[in-house]
Amino acid sequence: DIPQIPLANGNTIPQLGLGVFQVDNAEDTKNSIKWALAAGYRHIDTAAYYGNEQWVGEAIKESGLDRSELFVTTKLWNNVRGYDETKQAFGESMARLGLDYLDLLLIHWPAPGYVDTWKAMEDLYREGKIKNIGVSNFEQNQLEDLMSQTEIKPMIDQIETHPYFQQTELHAYLESQGIQHEAWSPLGGGKNNALGDPVIAKIAAAHNVTPAQAILRWHIQREEVVIPKSIHEERVAQNRDIFAFGLDEDEMQAIAKLDQGKRVGPDPQNLAWLKKSMTYGSRA
Ligand code: A2P
Repeated sequence: DIPQIPLANGNTIPQLGLGVFQVDNAEDTKNSIKWALAAGYRHIDTAAYYGNEQWVGEAIKESGLDRSELFVTTKLWNNVRGYDETKQAFGESMARLGLDYLDLLLIHWPAPGYVDTWKAMEDLYREGKIKNIGVSNFEQNQLEDLMSQTEIKPMIDQIETHPYFQQTELHAYLESQGIQHEAWSPLGGGKNNALGDPVIAKIAAAHNVTPAQAILRWHIQREEVVIPKSIHEERVAQNRDIFAFGLDEDEMQAIAKLDQGKRVGPDPQNLAWLKKSMTYGSRA
């Protein structure tokens, strides 16, 4: 079974989910979710910005699974800021997803104005419309700023994390705050990434698993939540098969040494990028 990770509010999140970032058409979105659910995934991570919420909703409906069995995450894009705007955008995401409650809503990036957005999310959480609330791409200074002005602490911070960008300091800070670390692009996003690293290859071979499975296992043992994306059936299934082996301390250390501090995504401290991202919306 896929482990459940406890959150600060007493709820739990499945430690493995399917990510659908850059899955930009109905067929791939619905297929990858169908394969994931067949393989035993029960957690799906989307975002308004991905432009695929509607297809995620269709896939969920067509699965016939009971709503209570699923954990669904979406995110508010950076063009949504302010209390009323946030409530409205949440309603629009829910309409596209065809859901009447959400498991997790995240603020996608720490673009200015996130305090009022968070206040709306606190109220939606109190009303029971969202079971858990959190942020994405927030670093320590941004979390401190948010928490100093609001009442409810984020339950999750979803951040870029992979062997070449390990987030060791932020991971320790999140742990000290009882905020669950969730890793996006856990495999490194596909280009020049650790999937081709010789150290990973050696560890994978020793366990008779693939490099992707070895990397995902490293995240699991760091007690992160992971949301690998794939539009290939065998990879979706393979990425789920990471709970029947374990890396030993030496192997964990060998991967720890691979950190290059090299992001694949935007820098959350890049205010010019954050401001620009507030001027456009969903990719769809
Ligand atoms: P694809 O969707 O074509 O399978 P991340 O989740 O870190 O962003 O990484 C996703 C990238 O890694 C995608 O390009 C995905 O490609 C690829 N990928 C996902 N699972 C695997 C796997 N098990 N083996 C190799 N590549 C994978």
